[in-house]
Amino acid sequence: MSITFSEKTKTFKLDTPTSTYIFGVFEGNYLVHYYYGAPIPDTDVEELRIRPGFASFAPDSPTARVFNFSPDVTPLEYSTFGAGDFRLSAFAVKNSEGNKVTDLRYVSHKIYAGKKALPGLPSLYVNSDDEADTLEVLTEDKVTGVKATLIYTVFKTHGAITRSVKVENASDKPFFIDTVHSLCVDLPGYDYDMLGLYGRWVKERSLDRYPLHRGIQSIKSKRGSSSHNHNPFTALVKKGATEDYGECYGFNLVYSSNFSIDVEVEAFATSRLVMGINPDGFSWELAPGEEFYSPEAVMVFTDKGIGEMSRIFHKLYSNNLVRGKWKKAKRPLLINNWEGTGMDFDHDKLVSFAKHAKDMGLEMLVMDDGWFGHRDDDRSSLGDWYVAEYKLKHGLSGLIKAVNDLGLEFGIWFEPEMISPDSDVYRAHPDWCLHTEGRDKSIARTQYVMDFSRKDVRDYVYGMMHKILSENNIAYVKWDFNRNLTEVSCAQLPPEKQGEIFHRFVLGTYEVMDRLIKDFPHILIENCSGGGGRFDPGMLYFSPQIWTSDNTDPIERLTIQFGTSLCYPALTMGAHVSASRRASYETKKNVALWGSFGYELDPDKLSPETIEEIKEQVKEYHRYYDVIHYGELYRLITPFENDFRVAWQMVAEDKSEALVTVVNMRQSYDPFFILRLKGLDPEKLYEVEDTGNTYSGAYLMNAGLNLTHKPQGDGESYLIHIVEKK
Ligand code: GLA
Repeated sequence: MSITFSEKTKTFKLDTPTSTYIFGVFEGNYLVHYYYGAPIPDTDVEELRIRPGFASFAPDSPTARVFNFSPDVTPLEYSTFGAGDFRLSAFAVKNSEGNKVTDLRYVSHKIYAGKKALPGLPSLYVNSDDEADTLEVLTEDKVTGVKATLIYTVFKTHGAITRSVKVENASDKPFFIDTVHSLCVDLPGYDYDMLGLYGRWVKERSLDRYPLHRGIQSIKSKRGSSSHNHNPFTALVKKGATEDYGECYGFNLVYSSNFSIDVEVEAFATSRLVMGINPDGFSWELAPGEEFYSPEAVMVFTDKGIGEMSRIFHKLYSNNLVRGKWKKAKRPLLINNWEGTGMDFDHDKLVSFAKHAKDMGLEMLVMDDGWFGHRDDDRSSLGDWYVAEYKLKHGLSGLIKAVNDLGLEFGIWFEPEMISPDSDVYRAHPDWCLHTEGRDKSIARTQYVMDFSRKDVRDYVYGMMHKILSENNIAYVKWDFNRNLTEVSCAQLPPEKQGEIFHRFVLGTYEVMDRLIKDFPHILIENCSGGGGRFDPGMLYFSPQIWTSDNTDPIERLTIQFGTSLCYPALTMGAHVSASRRASYETKKNVALWGSFGYELDPDKLSPETIEEIKEQVKEYHRYYDVIHYGELYRLITPFENDFRVAWQMVAEDKSEALVTVVNMRQSYDPFFILRLKGLDPEKLYEVEDTGNTYSGAYLMNAGLNLTHKPQGDGESYLIHIVEKK
């Protein structure tokens, strides 16, 4: 068992291949946190909780009969509000008396093999029960009747632990959940840097790294989506930690709406991290007998550097988050018409796309925005999910038949959670969008947001999608989401439930996505939100790939893809070659190959030479598919540390093959360049394909490849394929 409980020391020990996590039941049934870090065998670790006495005004526990035991300075497993711990609260309820004093204490626990799904929420899963063990620790607040079950799953081969919290109302009065973080971690120092992925539209997930300071530092969203601006990911890495060395704690929330990550460094220089639903604007009424589940959080620890942390996330998400047919099936090589035509297309234009695509060896045509209602620009028709026959003269089925007859599959774009004021559905149901009585509605991209907290609204939208998808041979859906939520309230709910709507909205989105994949399990869903505005593990549970960014400039894409790779694997990152301004088709291809590869351009506008070049690219895509999609990533030179050249490497799991990509973001005036590779087997011999030279893995990793003779120009790039010599 990877989870054990010692009756003697009353400690729970959670072991992964790269970490040990220990907490226990202490005097007064407090749950005390003892240790999270590199693997250790010990369970008798009680002294780790001891903090200096007489802390500034720290109150003693009213029940723990131990000298100087104060909840305010003790490392706690799941902190609560108002009962002696003044640091960040992981949990608080407002009770029927109107106060928020909350005090959870241990009641019982159970340990079992496997892992349960979280009702209504995306979560990691096990392929068989022997992959993971789960611990459920029941706690309760005797005064309010709150029961909170802390749920931990240890993934035995992945160095990862997931956590979530189930809250029940065991009293006879309703209460309000005010704060329910999915995890709380107390670390005994603060010599860490905090990593975050920040950005905006067309510049998602740049890496931020800053030292922890005393006080509270936060990464949050309250946009109704995980957002372009901040990702629900952070890592605390030991000062000086690099890709290859140092302790790293990685945290990621499986959630697509308002999230919050706070780290507080307090008086004794200890650090507490809490992560979960953003309490700002959140309140959930729980009636007697009802349950509430927090989203799931993922924790990864390794002492082998940031790169190893990423690889643990990648393997975990590829095996235990991405689901269904598309987890293992080879993704279709697609062409999307958006950057090529915008909404200005018709049947003939798309058939011409498909002909070229077939000729170039592509496998699917995706028809993007503009095929429905009377949508010629972004000012109309969202919600009117019926075909614009003035554009598609043979209807949708006629177009799909023509595309299928050419030997291509067909994909389609929807933006289900949105509604245009100029639409039949809005004219019939103006109350179906999120709005607040008496206030003007904020408009963005000339659209409002469908109130997906309402079942009638969801049923209507899904009904329209279902009709299109069941009547046509559609193999792929791009699910878009192009604005954030404002005026979030719902006339169908009473005042005391208005704090639930952001969460109810995303549960509604998850519900519709779930119906979609149950009804159409063969369909590949690519999530999108103005590019990568909802690139989070919650969405990956439903859509195995996500459009990484609307920015398809290959040089700009480098920071986006490097940042995204901090916790998300290559097979989840939609990456297309476009007709974008900068760089050659060679570099566009080399950068896009890192992800779920495709094209996004008008093939009618390509020169015959470029078409021939693309045919060669398609061959390379097939040749390198496995090593990229199932291999392990090593970031060799990152754009966050080097502003003229980057390099990354994918290594097959059995170390028999590697693919190195080097991109010069700018002309190099430092042409001497030796690149040391990583992740190979030092004992194996490898042939570098383009030169035919053979080296040991030890040579390639320690001496390195001398690439001084390779292209050094602005935007130039190259691949180096290395195969084991048997
Ligand atoms: C968003 C997406 C694009 C495209 C447009 C269509 O911006 O990110 O890829 O689908 O919407 O309106």
